Amino acid sequence: MDKRTPGGASALALGGALALWAFGGAAAQNFPWSDAGLSPDRRAELALGQLPLDEKIGLVHGVFPRMMKAPPPGVVSSAGFIPGVPRLGLPDLKESDASLGVAAAGRKDDDAAALPSGMLLASTWNPDIAFAGGAMIGKETRQKGFNVLLNGGVNLTRDPFNGRNFEYVGEDPLLAGTIAGAAIGGIQSQHVISTTKHYLMNDQETGRGALDARIGSAALRESDLLAFEIAIEKGKPGSVMCAYNRVNGPYACENAFTLNQVLKTDWGWKGWVMSDWGAVHSLDAAVNGLDQESGAELDNQVFFDAPLRQALADGRIPQARLDDMVRRILRSEFAVGLIGAQPADGPLDTRADAAVTQAEAEAGIVLLKNEGAVLPLAASARRIAVIGGHADLGVLSGGGSSQVIPRGSTVLPPPAGAPSWVEGVVYHPSSPLQAIRARAKGGEVAFQSGQDLAAAVAAAKSADVAVVFVEQWASEAIDVSTRLSDNQEALIKAVAAANPHTVVVLENGGPLLMPWIGQVQGVVEAWYPGMRGGEAIARVLFGEVNPSGRLPATFAADAGQLVRPAPVGAELAPKDGSSGPTFPVDYKEGSSVGYRWFAEKEFKPLFPFGYGLSYTRFRYGALSLTGGKAMAASVAVTNTGARAGTETVQLYLKKGPERGQRRLLGWAQVRLKSGETRTVRIKAEPRLLANWDDKANGWRLAGGRYEVFAGSNAEDAASSGAVEMQAASLRP
Ligand code: BGC
Repeated sequence: MDKRTPGGASALALGGALALWAFGGAAAQNFPWSDAGLSPDRRAELALGQLPLDEKIGLVHGVFPRMMKAPPPGVVSSAGFIPGVPRLGLPDLKESDASLGVAAAGRKDDDAAALPSGMLLASTWNPDIAFAGGAMIGKETRQKGFNVLLNGGVNLTRDPFNGRNFEYVGEDPLLAGTIAGAAIGGIQSQHVISTTKHYLMNDQETGRGALDARIGSAALRESDLLAFEIAIEKGKPGSVMCAYNRVNGPYACENAFTLNQVLKTDWGWKGWVMSDWGAVHSLDAAVNGLDQESGAELDNQVFFDAPLRQALADGRIPQARLDDMVRRILRSEFAVGLIGAQPADGPLDTRADAAVTQAEAEAGIVLLKNEGAVLPLAASARRIAVIGGHADLGVLSGGGSSQVIPRGSTVLPPPAGAPSWVEGVVYHPSSPLQAIRARAKGGEVAFQSGQDLAAAVAAAKSADVAVVFVEQWASEAIDVSTRLSDNQEALIKAVAAANPHTVVVLENGGPLLMPWIGQVQGVVEAWYPGMRGGEAIARVLFGEVNPSGRLPATFAADAGQLVRPAPVGAELAPKDGSSGPTFPVDYKEGSSVGYRWFAEKEFKPLFPFGYGLSYTRFRYGALSLTGGKAMAASVAVTNTGARAGTETVQLYLKKGPERGQRRLLGWAQVRLKSGETRTVRIKAEPRLLANWDDKANGWRLAGGRYEVFAGSNAEDAASSGAVEMQAASLRP
């Protein structure tokens, strides 16, 4: 069954929930649990004590209003709705997607702001920017009448072809967890509940409802679980969304190990687990850790209504388990301040919100190649040829439930093979061509769409510099190629042959192979840069912004270096996205994801994790280290170039006493004027120095000598050293 197609759940089964809608809206009364001086646990306990069975059942399953022909009055067409308990002042849960803004129901011509992709956000390596973006979309969430935002994707970029890489934050658990945690914190600062998703190992979209992700338990703890652990620790999300796929056997929403053991017991997390839409397959979910069935009409039955009542009645599921589900939901509502939150102020401040998206884009665009200092575009470049990539229309965005379509966007028909329910290929209304024209004062800026190769070549020939925009559309529910389309690769080659000063600007979801790289002088990775992306790109091209973005994922030199060159199970996965027969995906790299894999295999990537150029240069001094119980590193960094710029100083483990896995231990960002030197200090995250020990069910930091280096990327040992650490056991 397509997850967007209502399944076997009958209208009758949803009747309980529908009946309650009529009373929507929270009463402004004082209840014992209204006292904000009490702990969220106590408040939840007090409210729980007042709920009869029917109301509890009403809170643990919800519908997918977007699928409903006519949502009842007061229910906005969006991702999810769970009626509250008005007589007790407990609000309805009104859920909107998602990752990059308030997608509501994929409304066209909306005033919601569209942030750059998660991959671009991760390229900023800057939690403050992540928090600011989160706070902005959190505020818009409330202004638009929602109180839950399904944002917080932290699945690791294990494969460049994952169609949802653009919603996530890269391949490293520390970077991904830190950035996602900050974004979640920003959202929740607005009294809006944020989720962390898709828990766990939904690391490719092909057959997402059918695949069984196979991976060793220690490897899991050191990779995808660690990303979630850090995101949850830092962001304290009210909710976690379990995924469509299976993890080492059971479905992610019925997985006692990942839900009950890891999330709720080992990490002691007190929020509620909501299912992904259409991801529940049996009532085992209730026993194994799921607390709320989302979009319940997409499942074969509304398991968390009549079947749950029956199981409670005949003692197969204890009443205490239902209470636990409800307590968790209520606790998050109190902890995040949903209950008692003031109504959001006035209409959206669309200008201010767009400025937040632009600041993020400017900090996250990555300069990958700049031979002969072709960039920034010199004042002497009088004639610029802008070619391809719909640069006249705007900038590309990714498709699926996260899609935001701000006012003025262009929506083109989706390509063959796209999921039937996507809106189309959406270009955010920020034309790079216009932004370039605005800056090329007195110069000529010609545009060619790239459809006509001869015309593109002619334009390139008569220009001082050619800027070729290329794009790759990615979407939820599909995976993508690791290469640009043939005609775009041919376009780059033809233009580069016609003009030696060719710069390529990429708009894409995840890492790409670039067999054409040797032919061009400049490459700018703009990812999906959001609703002001055209401006941000132009500011980087013209040097108004000195690029400081750093790759959050490795770019391979060729397909032979990839763990999996293509999605597994493409021939087995049901084309309609339904669960289908299970097939395994063997994550044989274990926790050696991305750069760790490259270091282990001694592969030289095209661009390493952490890589990115600047219009200035930085020099590293000697590394000074302290060890013992905790590791800290200091290194002096000097800006030796002519412009101010930002350096992201990264600290990596090269070799511990037991293992030689390369790992990002920490990083610090420093802004330096030309000629300026500053010393940065980085504390190593202890879990990245340790190894997971299944027997001890904890992290074990081996005593002994640790070799580390600081540099500007995972392959740049600019400054190395070693230090002795004491043995330690760390609880998860
Ligand atoms: C996606 C989720 C999304 C949900 C609700 C699912 O298909 O995987 O990320 O939040 O739909 O739209």
